[in-house]
Amino acid sequence: MSSGPDAPSGARIAERARTVVPGGVNSGQRSIPGLTDLVVTGTGGARFRTADGREFTDFHAAFGPPLLGHNDPEVARAAAEAGARIGHMGVGVTEGEVQLAEQLVELIPSVEKVLLTSTGSEATFHALRVSRAATGRRLVVKFQGCYHGWHDSVSLNVISAPEKVGSHDPISTGILPEVLDATLVLPFNDSEAVRRAFAEHGHDIAAVIVEPVPHNVGALLPHQEFLTTLREETTRAGSVLVFDEVITGFRHDLGGWQSICGVTPDLTTLGKAIANGAPVGAIGGRADLMDLFSTRPGAPAFFAGTYNGHPSVVAAALATLRKLREEPVHAHVYRLGNRVRAELTALYARLGVPAVVTGHGSVFVSYFMPGPETPRTYDDLLANDASLFVGYRRKLLDHGLFELPLNLKRSHISYAHTDADVDRLLEGTEAAVKAVLAEGGARDLENASTMGGAVN
Ligand SMILES: Cc1ncc(COP(=O)(O)O)c(C=O)c1O
Repeated sequence: MSSGPDAPSGARIAERARTVVPGGVNSGQRSIPGLTDLVVTGTGGARFRTADGREFTDFHAAFGPPLLGHNDPEVARAAAEAGARIGHMGVGVTEGEVQLAEQLVELIPSVEKVLLTSTGSEATFHALRVSRAATGRRLVVKFQGCYHGWHDSVSLNVISAPEKVGSHDPISTGILPEVLDATLVLPFNDSEAVRRAFAEHGHDIAAVIVEPVPHNVGALLPHQEFLTTLREETTRAGSVLVFDEVITGFRHDLGGWQSICGVTPDLTTLGKAIANGAPVGAIGGRADLMDLFSTRPGAPAFFAGTYNGHPSVVAAALATLRKLREEPVHAHVYRLGNRVRAELTALYARLGVPAVVTGHGSVFVSYFMPGPETPRTYDDLLANDASLFVGYRRKLLDHGLFELPLNLKRSHISYAHTDADVDRLLEGTEAAVKAVLAEGGARDLENASTMGGAVN
């Protein structure tokens, strides 16, 4: 890669980054083959700019937070005003934290009490810890294809290679085997597998954690009967049911997927769209479980975090919620999402490309596989042509359109996207798919088709 004086400034900055930041990026999920020189210099609404002077319409949306669009002016103003007025004290509580908690309790069916974290991973970590504290049990159940953050109990079986499905597939080395052994991995939407696991291990299952719509592999829409089974089996066994709504919360509905499906979990984890991009997560749920956290004197489940409830972040969340409640945000993103899904489906049919376009509301994904059935399990997704999936997204870049060029990743629409953006997405997708087909698919899929660093 060129780094001389004539090199584009993106390449020069990225090379400096690689000297001092391992891999040059601050998350393993930002290390994208083909995008190693991507340096972001500005964002606004539905767009972002790079150090090389390029502008993209953004359908990646930072993995999901900016539901209102990047640096929404009201959210940015609220965070800046709070920052000018009140610093972070790390003692006591602020009224903003109380207002935010009151709204989460009001909006989300399962939430009787709530605690703030800075990330979704912290929220899911605490959900599992408190489940073990409450039940005195060892095991947690997760589902193939779901991602719940980077901590050990759940760092396995997300985007697995076909030969890894059905056994433990850690996404990292350095996890104690005892910890991996304490996580049972089941197929999503498979009620029978859940019943079998409970028949065998129910007495030792502390928690079942699930993305009610597994969006970390695009979108696997849940069978209602599956979510109901999770509720029934956990209730019968005295296990804790955790809905990880870090993606679905606020994005699909102010009350989360639980208010859409009518199944109420014991605990809910939140993040991402709650503050339109400011770093906040939350864990909420049944008061008797939440009261086990050590924020209550003498309670057994230790809970802390220097930045929890930071005033600027809380102000961003309050401004985001205000806008989600007062403006037709969901109507807008659902309308555009439905349009994208319908028109992409028609496009692939016209091109004669086997594809299934799915998602929900503002989330969409094109899988390149025979339809028309919507995929419901990770096994179904093994039919997706990863070289076409990654390849057309790489070609979209030539059209100023950004969908993350990694296998199975979902795309997002925000309140800032317009019909004109959708028109351009459709035109660009047609050109990109034709171009990648003409080349016979993408090459160099290493690190673009599965997730994780573990070699096992
Ligand atoms: C469903 C889900 N849970 C938890 C997390 C972890 O959140 P964070 O990256 O904020 O730690 C993510 C992140 O992508 C997620 O998608």
